[in-house]
Amino acid sequence: MTSQPINPSFPVARPRRLRRSASLRRMVREHTLRADQFIYPLFVDERLREPRPISAMPGQFQWPVHAMAQQAERVAQAGVSAVLLFGLPETKDAQGSSGWRAEGGVQQAIRAMKDAVPELVVMTDVCLCEYTSHGHCGVLQSGPNGVTVANDATLPLLARTALSHAEAGADVVAPSDMMDGRVGAIRSALDEAGFTDTAIMAYSAKYASAFYGPFREAAESAPQEGDRRSYQMDPANGREALREVELDIAEGADIIMVKPATLYLDVLARVRERVSLPLAAYHVSGEYAMLKAAAERGWLDERRATLEALTGIARAGADLIITYYALDAAAWLRAGE
Ligand code: PBG
Repeated sequence: MTSQPINPSFPVARPRRLRRSASLRRMVREHTLRADQFIYPLFVDERLREPRPISAMPGQFQWPVHAMAQQAERVAQAGVSAVLLFGLPETKDAQGSSGWRAEGGVQQAIRAMKDAVPELVVMTDVCLCEYTSHGHCGVLQSGPNGVTVANDATLPLLARTALSHAEAGADVVAPSDMMDGRVGAIRSALDEAGFTDTAIMAYSAKYASAFYGPFREAAESAPQEGDRRSYQMDPANGREALREVELDIAEGADIIMVKPATLYLDVLARVRERVSLPLAAYHVSGEYAMLKAAAERGWLDERRATLEALTGIARAGADLIITYYALDAAAWLRAGE
């Protein structure tokens, strides 16, 4: 069969016209990543004198408290506006009581970072799993169903932890535990103590994901027994994310989060349609590790693959992206295409 000429009697749509040159492509580009939409996660370890590399997350470290002021400067110099802090304590117990000490690693890091770079937005992860001896995100109770994570008994402990972060100067506290009612409990505790301006970024739709594996090495927070499926969301559920988001908004969340990111772009897009609050997506440790591993083998172009992944997250509707690639991506964006 000979190829048919395009019928000249009607105009033919030619989307390729606007892809001809780099300037045309830039002009019609719908989403452009900005360094100041990135949030950089950092691990602070009270026990360390020297930074310790995290093997499943090449390029990321557990940091000693004394390194944090310098980290604040490094992040700000990269043009990234915010950090999200995680703590590794000296001692753990069943309640996770190291999590709310005024002299804890995270609390010291907040003060050091705000002193060094006052305009840096300091966010803190609020959860018990790094501080409990059993590694669960809440306290345990024994009952007719065996040992379970106790929802309501956990709430005051989370509120206490969040309050200790606010007292140290955190701008935003980010509960990641997935207990029901924790946003409300934290909001009330902050308000009662006069911290009405401390914002809450809620890990609203946080899935029970295999992609947190490398993080659990970084935060030494793997549960000793069982898993997190009785409190984190089932990866098979999309609609349920909307309900989690509604509840967190009703309880006073200022920023909503979906986590992980690239496998949950449908969830991000659905939440975006319904919610006017700023929306964050967490590009998690496993998403980072996959890109790193493939790049190290020369199987993927790290820069292009990473910027494509982050652009996809923004296109799906995220305003903010929490990513271990924050500083690299900021440098790549500065260097241009
Ligand atoms: C703590 C917490 C986790 C992550 C953030 N906060 C781990 C988990 O829920 O097991 C994962 C972050 C990542 O994988 O980068 N609850």
